[in-house]
Amino acid sequence: METGASNVEVKEGTPLPLGMSNAELSERGNNLLKKLHLMMRVSQIFGANNVTFRRFMRESLEAINAITEKERRLSLKMLKGDIFLNDQRLRHSVDGFASFKYFITQWKKKRIGGVTFEGVLDERMLQEFVYTMNSLPDGRDENAADFNERMAYHKIHSIEVVPLDETEDEDADSILQKDDQKVVAKKVFFETLGTIKEVITQIKQKRYPDVRKLKRLVQASVRLAMEDESIMLGLTTIKNYDEYTFNHSVNVSIYSIAVGRRLGLSKKALTELGITALLHDLGKSKVPREIVNKPDKLDDAEWVLMKKHPLMGVEIVLNLKQLGELNPRTVIGIFDHHLKTDLSGYPGLFRKKEPSLFGRIIQIADVYDAMTTPRVYRKKSFSPDQALAIMLKDRETTFDPILLKVFIGLVGIFPVGSLVLLDTKEIAIPYKMNPDPELLDRPQVIVIHRDGKGEVKKSFVDLSEPGSAGAYKRSIVKTLDPNKYHIDIVKYFI
Ligand SMILES: [Fe+2]
Ligand SMILES: [Fe+2]
Repeated sequence: METGASNVEVKEGTPLPLGMSNAELSERGNNLLKKLHLMMRVSQIFGANNVTFRRFMRESLEAINAITEKERRLSLKMLKGDIFLNDQRLRHSVDGFASFKYFITQWKKKRIGGVTFEGVLDERMLQEFVYTMNSLPDGRDENAADFNERMAYHKIHSIEVVPLDETEDEDADSILQKDDQKVVAKKVFFETLGTIKEVITQIKQKRYPDVRKLKRLVQASVRLAMEDESIMLGLTTIKNYDEYTFNHSVNVSIYSIAVGRRLGLSKKALTELGITALLHDLGKSKVPREIVNKPDKLDDAEWVLMKKHPLMGVEIVLNLKQLGELNPRTVIGIFDHHLKTDLSGYPGLFRKKEPSLFGRIIQIADVYDAMTTPRVYRKKSFSPDQALAIMLKDRETTFDPILLKVFIGLVGIFPVGSLVLLDTKEIAIPYKMNPDPELLDRPQVIVIHRDGKGEVKKSFVDLSEPGSAGAYKRSIVKTLDPNKYHIDIVKYFI
């Protein structure tokens, strides 16, 4: 999802009237924010004559003048929790997030909505700007007017600030919080992906992997899922068939944690479940790659090997000493994740026993993720609703029907990351399920449309919003195939 894009229409490719291209302005803007951020932080500790402060001030000055020389003026404005540089929204990278957050929170506190620099600035002007800004008390509505008066008093006419827009308060707050979570979730997701890849590679090389990091990452996933499951679930729409094994493990872990959370499992149990899910297919690292990735049907001998992967997974996990006290539930969960509720499936059992809770949860997440992911040999995958429909048919024999119900409640009848058509003829992507089980067909969605110039615009809409005469404003008519519409769903979630 675009950062902080809630209710903001995204305009891409708008040409700027002067000087720089969008890309250049964006790059310079990010650099400028970082420099200004450092300078402001240092100024809160040191006086104006401090060497470090002066160095950061000179660097900021350079960054400002590099823009004003080409564009004549530079305006930084806060709007709906985003920062705009000369009317272009700045997108921050993960490492630039701290600077964004700094300005948004500081300006909000000081009731400042933005600043404009005209022409080329010198050190005296910027120094006055910094220390006047620092002297403003928090929460005072007259701050902007006072600031501008001070500048006029010092005969500085090239710097001006504007007061904070009243409506900015709530937007900035909620967006910042969401942004924080999203940035962390993305980091956790990709780090887990990298770490599971490392672990599997080491196992293949018969080395002992360090899995303590995996445990820490799963704990972070659990924390994130407790706060807002939709953020982690959104990331499962990243379906990468080149790195299927790793992606699959991480996705199954996210789904399993989310199901476990709905069942009310404790944080500790959720972490165990998340780890079990991450490691569920570990045994496949002992099955020859040609068999795991074989595009055609496996022959009998190959199937015999393939069916051993749960047991081989158990063997590997028992040797992973760093997992600490290995929970029996992890061992059993890996063992029985292909055991169906009618006890068919594999491994074959001598004594008939129902599959474990972890095994049953992982099985559902496993099948759903496998069906909805394009594979090397099957580039077209099932859409989320097709996959759920197929799974529902097997509910008596394969899956635990109650857990399947919970899972459908989680991903929805119109799952997060599917593409749907609304009765308003708009196209939308569900991104958050309705918490009311009666309203599973009314998720919150991102409506995407193109304006006259072909630019993509998006808005966030809650489908449970009532319209006139007791009806709903918008309803889903059917699901659509994203490939046909050339819509890259993932782009809307990261
Ligand atoms: Fe498996
Ligand atoms: Fe699997």
